[in-house]
Amino acid sequence: MEIFKIAIDGPAGAGKSSIAKIISDKLNIEYVDSGAIYRAITKKMLDSNIKIDNYDEIENLMNRISIALINGHIFIDDADMTGYIRSREVTELVSPVSSNITVRKRVNRFLNEYSGSKSVIMDGRDIGTVVFPDAKYKFYLDASVTERAKRRYNEQNGDATLEEIKASIEKRDLNDKNKPFGALKIADGAIYIDTTDLSIDEVVEEILKKIK
Ligand code: DC
Repeated sequence: MEIFKIAIDGPAGAGKSSIAKIISDKLNIEYVDSGAIYRAITKKMLDSNIKIDNYDEIENLMNRISIALINGHIFIDDADMTGYIRSREVTELVSPVSSNITVRKRVNRFLNEYSGSKSVIMDGRDIGTVVFPDAKYKFYLDASVTERAKRRYNEQNGDATLEEIKASIEKRDLNDKNKPFGALKIADGAIYIDTTDLSIDEVVEEILKKIK
């Protein structure tokens, strides 16, 4: 059977994970959420009290931690971090953490080792540009910032106002697009889809049409 990778990149709230999960079911290949790895490392840094500007400690941590992905659960040093990675404090800190080159190298090594010999659909910010530049299929999903903030607002339990979510997304977009390494951009050969006025099913259909 042919082994292939599908790379889905784009900003927060563009629909990447919902869409990637549906496609993974339809094509019977594994879905890998690369953002979850950055989030788990961020949670580990918070728990270990390692500050974002302590480059030596971060490098130390990256050299010694173990990362594992088992049935969609993300483990750092054998501790299941899955339930803790969507908190507000992790969400606020994850973009700066993911700007650190040592962190990026560690995550990319894990993603390559993990997916090496299997077909996967992976979403993130630099999958089509850095992680799998040779992916057979590459997509860049986008949507207006107002629409993305609305989607995130409807997903949460009323902790934050729409304006707060919009401001947080704008801050993350700016940081993600201006990283010195692994910046969010449209990969060579990627198909760009604006999902602002499309339903999840319509985006899935468009992607499947390109793949088939
Ligand atoms: O997809 P997400 O919102 O869970 O990602 C969390 C953060 O991780 C996001 O702000 C940017 C970073 N990230 C990254 O730099 N590269 C990736 N491939 C995936 C996520």
